Amino acid sequence: MNDPHHLVEDRDVTAQLHARGDVAVLVPAAGSGVRLGPGVPKALRLLAGEPLLVHAVRRVAAAPSVRLIVVAAPAAEVTAVRELLAPVAPVIVVPGGAERQDSVAAALAAVPDDVDIVLVHDAARALTPPGLVESVAAAVRSGHPAVIPAQPVVDTIKEVGTQERVLGTVDRSVLRSVQTPQGFRRDVLAAVHEAASAAHTDDAGMVEKAGLPVVCIPGSDLALKITRPLDLVLAEALLAHADPQPPAR
Ligand code: C5P
Repeated sequence: MNDPHHLVEDRDVTAQLHARGDVAVLVPAAGSGVRLGPGVPKALRLLAGEPLLVHAVRRVAAAPSVRLIVVAAPAAEVTAVRELLAPVAPVIVVPGGAERQDSVAAALAAVPDDVDIVLVHDAARALTPPGLVESVAAAVRSGHPAVIPAQPVVDTIKEVGTQERVLGTVDRSVLRSVQTPQGFRRDVLAAVHEAASAAHTDDAGMVEKAGLPVVCIPGSDLALKITRPLDLVLAEALLAHADPQPPAR
């Protein structure tokens, strides 16, 4: 990122990705688990022969509102991730930071000043359809400072104490299961990142803490988080039968 030529090169390339789009999508993928080569990298785990990150970026890139995508990669893997994604879509790849929050901040710093809507997406939600990206962006565009896709909770939820003793049953009608991309007005995301001290796993949580409204919009079954072996089986079946794959660019 410190090499100005790289930055200029990347920004020129991003012009190819929906030049009229008004949205930047940040994908923090710089966790220590994310490593090319041996091991089981989370964002680079294979689904139908391709890394989750590739599937995720391909779908985000198919959303017409998206002007640019910024991926935060481990510092040592920036070039490799850039090469991995080059055939998929024009993407800026920056070195991430020590915590997820630092990686989001590093990716946000690469977003040009005139982009007012920023989405933060999890590469593990690799089959998230372009339509959900559009819906989140549209809700931010319509005036909401922070928007999250969410689904009703289908299981009965119990609160438990020591030794798994049930303390009570939570009213699930007021609960939501939250997905990504989470969408923000850029100034709001930048402000909460500047103010935040503790590490967060959820950017919308930082906005809530700042006392600003966060609204839910309907999520998608296809935006499932692919982390467990069962999720991979389900995702492969979805790819084979529901074919949520966007057309090749
Ligand atoms: O490790 P954890 O599950 O909390 O990571 C959540 C996401 O944040 C992962 O996609 C991971 O790659 C990313 N992350 C990051 N920079 C870090 C730590 C995690 O981009 N320093």
